[in-house]
Amino acid sequence: MKKIVWKLKVWSGKAFRMLLYWIYGFDQWHLFTLTERNYARDIIAYCNSRSIRNSFAEIGCGLGDILRNVKFTQRLGLDNDKNVLAAAAFLNKLYFKKNIRLGVFYFPESDFEGSYNVIVMVNWIHHVEPLTLKKKIEEYFEWFLQDGGVIIIDTVQDPEYEFNHNISFLTENVNCELVKIGDYERNREVWSIIKVKSK
Ligand SMILES: C[S@@+](CC[C@H](N)C(=O)[O-])C[C@H]1O[C@@H](n2cnc3c(N)ncnc32)[C@H](O)[C@@H]1O
Repeated sequence: MKKIVWKLKVWSGKAFRMLLYWIYGFDQWHLFTLTERNYARDIIAYCNSRSIRNSFAEIGCGLGDILRNVKFTQRLGLDNDKNVLAAAAFLNKLYFKKNIRLGVFYFPESDFEGSYNVIVMVNWIHHVEPLTLKKKIEEYFEWFLQDGGVIIIDTVQDPEYEFNHNISFLTENVNCELVKIGDYERNREVWSIIKVKSK
């Protein structure tokens, strides 16, 4: 019975996404529903369990599945694909999500701004060269993350991906605690890089 309910959720979600895909013309990857993505659901649960939930940002937010489901006072979604952002804006209206801002952002070139409790960058950073990613993590950690806040990223260990990141290398220069949120298919690990409060 559980399996049937799961399948119904996935099929109905996919049919709706297919419709959006025809209208907005975004990448086919976004046909995957949130129901199918354990890592994303775990990130949502982790963020919603945090005690301070003022400001949340996701770079590479896609349709905003994570963004729409985290309970933060202010939410910002950034992506380099204006088609997927247009579809995300439609979904925000459909689900009456008023406190979500969206914007076009090209990592690593675009200037980031603001101050956040949580910054998420998952399921696309395997396209970013390690040293570039490391430098940006250091910059965001130092300038845009509040004390006690977290940057959430994923690492994969699979030769089919462009870059396999090493979490120790990426975080060796920041004063952080590391918590692993979970392990997923294709040796994907999702990490929370916690900014240790300054004394
Ligand atoms: C595979 S989707 C993941 C969406 C979301 N993070 C999730 O896990 O549910 C990757 C998203 O990141 C965006 N993206 C990829 N490279 C990017 C970059 N360099 N700068 C900004 N967005 C990027 C893509 O347009 C796409 O919407």
